[in-house]
Amino acid sequence: MRPTVPMSDRLLEAMASAGARLYGGERVSELAHALQCAELADAEGADEQLTLACLLHDVGRVVVEPSLIFDRRGGARPGTRGHHEIGAELIAPYVPERVAWLVRMHADAKRYLCSTEPGYHAALSPASQHTLTLQGGLMDDEELARHRGHPWLADALRLRRWDDGAKVVGRETRPLEAWAPLVRAYLG
Ligand SMILES: [Fe+2]
Repeated sequence: MRPTVPMSDRLLEAMASAGARLYGGERVSELAHALQCAELADAEGADEQLTLACLLHDVGRVVVEPSLIFDRRGGARPGTRGHHEIGAELIAPYVPERVAWLVRMHADAKRYLCSTEPGYHAALSPASQHTLTLQGGLMDDEELARHRGHPWLADALRLRRWDDGAKVVGRETRPLEAWAPLVRAYLG
């Protein structure tokens, strides 16, 4: 019988293989994007959970067939889901609630910033501007108020800014193996 592969190794393997793809209409690969995001978080003193969320925030893109992700291409169709939901649900049984929440929240964090910060939308990459619409567009006052009081909102907005900044072609980062101990510490 084949030994069970721990979730940490499955995710690391998916990031290393499927992660070599270009990242949703961006100019860097999924893997380079994840590594840059974690690196930015670490450089700015993010705690371990927040850094892990940065590394894994787009993991939903690499663990399922791209045609099943609605905000990747083509828009919402029956049977498709947002990559942020897929990723959050996959890791939720293994990680603290805050980590899964941050992964789920990274699409809404973009919607929040577009709705509250002049100039934020204009600075997004064209691909991020496109998926904003698919992810629900701007937030109304009621939705903004609901998010404003959340204790982890500030973390979600930090993650989002690192996410936006993690799309630089050719930027040097540590390799994925450097993050394996962190991933294994939480995901077995
Ligand atoms: Fe991202």
